[in-house]
Amino acid sequence: MSKEAKLELDGKVYTLPTVEGSEGEKAVDVSSLRATSGYITLDDGYGNTGSCSSKITFIDGDLGILRYRGIGIEELAEKSNFIETAYLLIYGSLPNADQLRTFSDALMEFQFLHEDMKYHFEGFPTGAHPMAILSAMINAASCFDEKIMRWQWGKTKEFDIVVAKLISQVRTIAAYSYRKSHGLPLIYPKKSYKYTANFLHMLFSSPYEDYEIKPEVVKALDLIFLLHADHEQNCSTSTVRMVASSQANLFASASAGVCALWGPLHGGANQAVIEMLEQIHKEGDDGSRFIAAAKDKNSGKKLMGFGHRVYKNYDPRAKIIKKSCDQVLEKLKINDPLLDIAKHLEEAALKDSYFVERKLYPNVDFYSGIIMRALEIPVEMFPVIFAIGRMPGWIANYKEIMEEPKSRIYRPRQVYVGRTLNPYVPLAERK
Ligand code: SDX
Repeated sequence: MSKEAKLELDGKVYTLPTVEGSEGEKAVDVSSLRATSGYITLDDGYGNTGSCSSKITFIDGDLGILRYRGIGIEELAEKSNFIETAYLLIYGSLPNADQLRTFSDALMEFQFLHEDMKYHFEGFPTGAHPMAILSAMINAASCFDEKIMRWQWGKTKEFDIVVAKLISQVRTIAAYSYRKSHGLPLIYPKKSYKYTANFLHMLFSSPYEDYEIKPEVVKALDLIFLLHADHEQNCSTSTVRMVASSQANLFASASAGVCALWGPLHGGANQAVIEMLEQIHKEGDDGSRFIAAAKDKNSGKKLMGFGHRVYKNYDPRAKIIKKSCDQVLEKLKINDPLLDIAKHLEEAALKDSYFVERKLYPNVDFYSGIIMRALEIPVEMFPVIFAIGRMPGWIANYKEIMEEPKSRIYRPRQVYVGRTLNPYVPLAERK
C-alpha cells in the first residue's frame, strides 16, 4: 500500500497518493488535486515538479550520480562509445553484435542529406550562428523525406528508420552548418569512416585534402558526445517531450530541443565558458576579479560552467571531462592557458563561501570547451556538439512518451494575476 499525503485546505482534508521510484525518489501525485479541491500547485522553474516517470536516466544530485538505463556514467565513459550508448538510451539495453551492426549500418545508409537541401544552406548569411542553422535544417530535412513526414505516431517499425536518419543526419547538418557559416564548400560523408570520425572529416577536410583523423581526437570527441547523451528532464529534453506530447514528428521535436539548448544558461554555457575564460585571460586577471563580479548580483556576471539545478555536488561528467582534458592536451602537446585559468577558478571558487554555501560546483560545461578548443572545434560550434551528443536522449524521451499508453498532451495550468474584467475603451477616449 503506497503512503498517502494529507493536505488540509479551507477546513477540508484531501488525501493524495504518493509514488516511490526504483531509486527511492518520492513524489506526491497531485493529478486529482484540481478536480477535488479547486487548487493547483505552483512551482516556479519546476524545481519541485516531476513532469513524468521515466526509465531512461537517473541522477542523484546530492551524491553526484548519473546512470543511463542503470549503468554508471563512469563505466560507460571508460568501456563504451557514443553509438553503443545511444542504442542503450533509445532501446533500453546495450545492443548485441547483430543489433549494433544493424544500427551502425542504418546510420551509414542514411548519412546523406537530400541534395536539394544545399539550396537551403545557401539561404543563410555567412556568419549565421550554427545553432540557428541546425534547428532550421533539422526541420527542413524532414520536408525532403516522405518516410519522416508520413510517419504515423506509434508506428515503431518505421520509427527505427526515422531515428537512424535523425542521429546520422544531425551530424551531417551540423558539419554543413559550420561550413556554410564560414563560406566553405560542403564536404560529403565517407563510407569508410565511423560516426565521429566522419563528423570531423565533414567539418575539417577540404576539397583538396582529407583532414587527418587522429584516434585520440576521435576518442575525445566521442567521449564528449557520450557524456552529453542524456540528462533526465533538463530544459531541452523537457521541450522535446512537450512537443512530442502533441504528436508532432520526431524531427520537429528535435528542432525545438536545439532552440532550448542554445540558451547560455543551458547548452550555450560551454561557449559562454570559453568566452569568459578568454576575457579573464585578456584582462590579465588571475580569476579573482571575475569571481568577485560573479558573486555581485549587480554585475550581471555568472561563473559560467558552475552551478546546476540538480547537482549539489561535483557533476560526475565534469570530473571525467577534466581528466580527459589533461590527457588530450598532453597527447596533442597543447599548453592552453585557459585550462590553467579554469583550474585556478575552480580551486578559488570551491574555497569561497559564496559558492560553497550555494553548493555551486563545476558542471559538464566548465571543462568541455577546453577539450573542444584543443580539437580545433570553433567556439560557436560548442552548443552544436552538445546537440549532437544529446540527440539520443531526446529521441529516447520522445519514444518513451510515444510508447506510454496513457500519454497526454503537456498542458500546464497557471495562476492568473492580470487585470480583472474591464470594458473596451474606444480610441478617442483613451488618454
Ligand atoms: C547544463 O538541467 C540540466 O541537466 C542541464 C545540463 C544537461 O546536461 O542538460 O546539465 C546542462 O545546462 C548545465 C548548466 C550550464 N549553465 C551554466 O553553467 C550557466 C551558469 N549556471 C547558472 O546560470 C545556474 O547555476 C543554473 C542555470 C545552471 C542553475 O540555475 P538555478 O537552479 O535556477 O539556480 P539559481 O539561479 O536559482 O541559483 C541559486 C543561487 C542564486 O544566488 P542567490 O539568489 O541564492 O543569492 O546561486 C547563484 C544564484 O545567483 N548562482 C550563481 C551561479 N549559479 C547559481 N552565482 C554565480 N555564478 C553561477 N554560475
